Amino acid sequence: MVSRKGKFITIEGLDGCGKSTQLAKLADFLRAQRMDVLVTREPGGTLIGDRIRALLLDSATSGLAPTAEMALMFAARAQHLEELILPALAQGKIVLCDRFTDSTEAYQGAGRRLGSGPVLELHRLLCGDIWPAATVLMDTDAALSVSRARRRNRGRSSVHSEEPNENRFEEESRAFFERVRAAYLEIARREPDRVIVIDARGTPDATHQAIVRALEPRLNLRAKTG
Ligand code: TYD
Repeated sequence: MVSRKGKFITIEGLDGCGKSTQLAKLADFLRAQRMDVLVTREPGGTLIGDRIRALLLDSATSGLAPTAEMALMFAARAQHLEELILPALAQGKIVLCDRFTDSTEAYQGAGRRLGSGPVLELHRLLCGDIWPAATVLMDTDAALSVSRARRRNRGRSSVHSEEPNENRFEEESRAFFERVRAAYLEIARREPDRVIVIDARGTPDATHQAIVRALEPRLNLRAKTG
């Protein structure tokens, strides 16, 4: 385990659960306390990672083997850790990351049925077994979440439908997302000290308050603002 001065916090949940909104609100909250916050996301976060992201999320990418998909998620993550996350933590920053290895366990491990074992093994081999200090899991109903994500993506890609898009996962079945949700909840049961489950079906403000309340004592956030 590397020595880390900063704090690594990840946010997880189904597509369309409202992660981006909550990440922005949490970043504002922390910055208002004069904390140095880096907001990033997976897959992506670096130039190389964004190129991998484009390949992974574009619905024009067809025939990608599940194992290759998993390997690409980890390729982007290894680059992200090396180039951005670890240096930022070493500088004492709070790193807020939209998705991390729990996404791979939920989507590739359970959604694609590759199992948790290979995901955790690759995490150990390629990511130095580095885990967040806390993970916020935004739990929502699978059907609701995915229909929101699909609506959002349709809105984005309706004009130039042949252009690259980020729809490939949203086109998966309801059963796929039910497996993803169940896997997330199982990770939370397995790691209650790290993973905080937040009911994300309320208003964005209520969800934000719940996230802040849950993170404050665990990370001693106020005490560190000096
Ligand atoms: P994201 O940009 O967070 O999409 P959304 O805003 O819709 O939640 O994530 C992109 C997609 O990539 C999402 O469908 C989940 C998927 N994904 C995986 O399948 N495995 C992974 O390891 C990661 C990081 C993401």
